[in-house]
Amino acid sequence: MKKIEEYFVPWLKGVKMYISPHIELAWQNKKLHRLMSNENPNAPSAKVLEAIGSFGKIANRYPDQGTAVRSRIATINGLDGPGNVLIGNGSSEVYDMIWRSFVEPGEEIIQHTPCFGIYKLRCIVVGGKLVSVPMIYENGEFCFDAGSIIKAITPKTKIIVIANPNNPTGNFMDDEDFVEVAETGLPFVVDEAYVEYAGLGRSQVKLLKKYPNVMVTRTLSKAYGLAGLRFGYMLAVKGVIDQIAATLIPWNVGTIPMWAALAALEDTEGLTERVEFNNAQVRYFEEELKDVPGLNVLHSYGNYILFDAKETGKKGDDMVAFAQERGLIFRPQAPMYGSDGFFRITIGSAEENRMAVEAIKEFLS
Ligand SMILES: Cc1ncc(COP(=O)(O)O)c(C=O)c1O
Repeated sequence: MKKIEEYFVPWLKGVKMYISPHIELAWQNKKLHRLMSNENPNAPSAKVLEAIGSFGKIANRYPDQGTAVRSRIATINGLDGPGNVLIGNGSSEVYDMIWRSFVEPGEEIIQHTPCFGIYKLRCIVVGGKLVSVPMIYENGEFCFDAGSIIKAITPKTKIIVIANPNNPTGNFMDDEDFVEVAETGLPFVVDEAYVEYAGLGRSQVKLLKKYPNVMVTRTLSKAYGLAGLRFGYMLAVKGVIDQIAATLIPWNVGTIPMWAALAALEDTEGLTERVEFNNAQVRYFEEELKDVPGLNVLHSYGNYILFDAKETGKKGDDMVAFAQERGLIFRPQAPMYGSDGFFRITIGSAEENRMAVEAIKEFLS
């Protein structure tokens, strides 16, 4: 008789559950300051809390397919209607649905590194092969390299994914490069988790008019500040949404997140406040730290900042450990491009940011 282990699909062997150690740590010790997971430091607005309360009262009921919130999202993005929008339990679930819809075991997904880790994790569970094309790090800046992405295409390529702006580098790829990749005709996922911080004017949703192979993903975890609620979505032409919707687990988005998301999307003042706060705090970090000798502060259009402290002679991991002694959780960044000086922070409350700046100056100066 075969052992149970032998019945698992082979590509899952040895794969472990994904756990974010820094998030576990923060929940275990609530006194620590969470400057590591690109969360929003501001609590949900009164309007969102009201929706959570009132829909909590009917949580005994199954949700519908989210027509109201999907219609609102379509309107915000100048699309025809709810048929252009698919919703998920965070955008992480949306990648899972997209990958499952296109990728067979052994087929390839191209990502541009450094980038968000979930693309790879969801690729592993469908038995896909992740192909990483590095950005170019030159003169202290990370540059997108559309030419190398296109060169990496093989007959097995099924998806190309690019974050706009990218996490952790914080910058946008140029419009011409998006067009060049879209022109390949391959399924092209543009992850716009942070786009609201710079405004929807920077979105690539406009590509949908000409390129039915383009899919744009978004989340309410960042600028809208609802990471714990889990609500993400994708935008695409109707035929693509219809096909990917075949993978939807029924009632994947609960009644409370669905209606709270609608309240957040309607609360434009709440969004503006959060965006303005964030962008002012990014400027605060940049202004305070620009004169630390040897420290490269990568300009960010998101709610996080990547630093390279290589020229200070200090290690990024030691910076993270130093901050933690002061109760601040920073995010380590594995060495790359010959530097072990990288580390990352998330914008926190004004007081947390002040503490972070002080810790960085003290450790690196
Ligand atoms: C680039 C990028 N995309 C997507 C997400 C995931 O967001 P969600 O909470 O919607 O799963 C993150 C979260 O950090 C991210 O950095």
